Amino acid sequence: MPGNELIGKEEMKEVMDVLETGVFMRYEFDERRRGVYKVKEFEDTFAQYLGVRYALGVTSGSAALKVALTALDVGPGDEVIVPAFDFIATYEAVLETGAIPVMTDIDESLNLDPSALEDRITPLTKAVIPVHMCGAAAKIDDIIAVSKKHNLSVLEDNAQACGGSYNGIKLGTLGNMGILSFDYYKTITTGEGGMVVTNDKTLYDRSDWYHDHGHDHNPAVGRALEGRTILGFNYRMNELQGAVGLAQLRKLDYIIREQKKIKGIIKEALGHIDGIGFRTLHDPEGDTATFLGFNAPDAATAKKLQAALRDQSIDTIYYKDNAWHYAPNWEHLIAWATANSKKFPFSNHKGSIDYGNQHIPRAEELLGRTLFMIIPVKMAEERREQIVTGIEKAAKVL
Ligand SMILES: Cc1ncc(COP(=O)(O)O)c(C=O)c1O
Repeated sequence: MPGNELIGKEEMKEVMDVLETGVFMRYEFDERRRGVYKVKEFEDTFAQYLGVRYALGVTSGSAALKVALTALDVGPGDEVIVPAFDFIATYEAVLETGAIPVMTDIDESLNLDPSALEDRITPLTKAVIPVHMCGAAAKIDDIIAVSKKHNLSVLEDNAQACGGSYNGIKLGTLGNMGILSFDYYKTITTGEGGMVVTNDKTLYDRSDWYHDHGHDHNPAVGRALEGRTILGFNYRMNELQGAVGLAQLRKLDYIIREQKKIKGIIKEALGHIDGIGFRTLHDPEGDTATFLGFNAPDAATAKKLQAALRDQSIDTIYYKDNAWHYAPNWEHLIAWATANSKKFPFSNHKGSIDYGNQHIPRAEELLGRTLFMIIPVKMAEERREQIVTGIEKAAKVL
């Protein structure tokens, strides 16, 4: 697990700056905070790193999705296209706005398939959420082209590929909006936290207002007198998160570089096994290398290989059976089990709702024979050797 492996004196120093002022809130208390505005500094530095005009820190990646969808005016009656291979938060965020997530197939990169989009678009479709799963980009240019043709907004869920890029442009900045997550598992972490990014001033303003009870954050007046045009909620990032984020961001390029080295070694070892292929990367250069995806010719061989690797103390993930990352496995989604007894928004929806796996033949086939390995930032030489020889031994069992 990357960022959390590297928590050290840099994070401590940033956090101490905040503790010394005692001001944990990102707004107000101008005298007491003596110029320390960590969330603002994190946002500005992050926006610069990504090459995007606006960045807004929020409490989590899930909150970022909800804020961005709301800014895009997604709401009850709308449909939003999402990939079948995903973390459940994307679906939940769509439901939180009152809209319906429409499960859609993936391509060989295991991300949303641009050629599957048109079949899932209906007159109710409002937006598309490509999710850059497991460190690598979806075919985002094609997804944007199809979306533009149908007048749909694109919100990139880049919770899992922070620092990754596509043709030299940072992921999260290509669509109308993007989001990132800094939860404890992510490439950089603030414990919990997230970011909304966009180049569009109106979308930024709507996000900014919505994430803080509608406050327009007018610097000319005090908080109590600030104006408001829309109702919002509280998704504010706090100063301690911003402080940790600043220190982590400085380590992001190093994290990706180290992961690429380790991934390269493991990939080379796996490449010697007959019949083993690798997840397609639409832009290998832009991969963050947080995961290594590889596949066997069929599901039975993939499971046999997984067991053989486990015998060598090498863990892999078989996402087709995973409880949280593959939509057909979410029995509570399929049962419309929202946390309100009226089953809103499913029960009110005018369009059809169908999470049957007949819509996702490629996901069934590809995920059915794919395994993933998590790539750490730090790996002792001894463990690298163990993995390489373990792979050689596991190969003999096939
Ligand atoms: C693809 C994806 N989207 C959204 C999220 C939600 O992020 P958070 O855990 O910060 O709420 C995650 C978290 O795992 C994720 O993997």
